Amino acid sequence: MRPSPIGPEHRVKEFRSGSPRLDHYVRHVALREAARRHAATFVLSPADDAGKVLGYYTVMPLTFRLTSVEMSGALISHLAVDRRVRHRGHGRRLLRSALLRSVRGPSLSLSGVVVEAPEPALFAFYRKYGFRELVDHGGRLFHFPSAVRASAERVFGPYAEGG
Ligand SMILES: CC(C)(COP(=O)(O)OP(=O)(O)OC[C@H]1O[C@@H](n2cnc3c(N)ncnc32)[C@H](O)[C@@H]1OP(=O)(O)O)[C@@H](O)C(=O)NCCC(=O)NCCS
Repeated sequence: MRPSPIGPEHRVKEFRSGSPRLDHYVRHVALREAARRHAATFVLSPADDAGKVLGYYTVMPLTFRLTSVEMSGALISHLAVDRRVRHRGHGRRLLRSALLRSVRGPSLSLSGVVVEAPEPALFAFYRKYGFRELVDHGGRLFHFPSAVRASAERVFGPYAEGG
């Protein structure tokens, strides 16, 4: 079970994370943003139903400031699991895929991975995987790519397994 790029076959209207913002994005925005190549959304579906949305994440390039230094990185702007299928490892599976996709990206000069946590549940979830709060960036957490790589391997297994 691996996340695949969002497409018209995904029944996004059935997705319910409990967060209006995260539901709205996948239902009404994600496909359009993917078509414009602004942000890439990947959907996790069960092996026997390719249209069902168990969860999703969105990644995009990002430029941000850390103290006075401008850095380039990746932003995981959305990640959510349907509330009816929580606590089965889907969140972990999505984060693993999002991190591998982020650190594997085109930029060798990637300075960090930033995540957005619009819900308290996500904040605690990301902290568990080593992300730390960005000062003065409400709701955003940060991880260095080398640390992401190391902790992704430690938590999720060998890096070469793919996304
Ligand atoms: C955070 C979220 C992605 C977790 O998804 P999930 O599929 O239940 O997560 P997993 O089953 O993969 O859990 C992976 C690990 O993260 C931990 N975890 C899950 N939710 C967590 C949370 N809220 N805080 C801290 N850790 C959490 C699990 O205990 C598990 O740890 P373990 O491997 O040591 O057992 C999911 O709750 C979500 O989409 N939240 C955003 C939507 C939201 O907040 N809606 C409003 C409330 S209903």
